[in-house]
Amino acid sequence: MHNTERLKEMFYEVQQCKKCPLHKTRNKPVFGNGLPDSSIILIGEAPGYDEDQTGKAFIGKSGKLLDKILSACNFHRRKHVFIGNVLKCRPPQNRNPEPEEVKTCLPYLLEQIELVDPAIIVTLGAVPAKTLLGKDFKITQQHGQWQLWQGRLLMPTFHPSALLRDPAKKYDAWEDFKTIVIKYREKVDASHACQFV
Ligand code: URA
Repeated sequence: MHNTERLKEMFYEVQQCKKCPLHKTRNKPVFGNGLPDSSIILIGEAPGYDEDQTGKAFIGKSGKLLDKILSACNFHRRKHVFIGNVLKCRPPQNRNPEPEEVKTCLPYLLEQIELVDPAIIVTLGAVPAKTLLGKDFKITQQHGQWQLWQGRLLMPTFHPSALLRDPAKKYDAWEDFKTIVIKYREKVDASHACQFV
């Protein structure tokens, strides 16, 4: 099956998913958004209120900040990035994902990564970094350092909601994204324009 078709099929699977108790409290599952052949995949934690209402990833306050950062890098959702989450359903009151929920939902994300086949993976915040790299991963100490995950390049950086809570982290996050632009030029498109890098 072609990757785009399988992603579509998985989208419908996720709409029906009842593999964990979060299906009882969710409004809409959030499969992820972006072109199926994006060169960059961004991975967040789990849908929040706005995402649960609409079924779209990162469209609330964090999403707006993420869009600004992407735009400063001259990356755009419709062209360069696929955005998804570790969990496809919102945990009540945005509580942290339970380990059992992550375990149950992870196969969707792993297959999404395989199908999108990005040159660069970017994890946003501690949850996706720990999920893929192991529970000892420390985002405050290790953000901005390229990791090799299953033969793929992975850049861990802060979650936009952490930047909203603590704007002092914005400088570090921007340095991480500049590093991503440089790697994108190296691996994907040497002529990628960005006025800041
Ligand atoms: N926070 C996330 O981690 N993901 C979203 O989709 C929205 C907010």
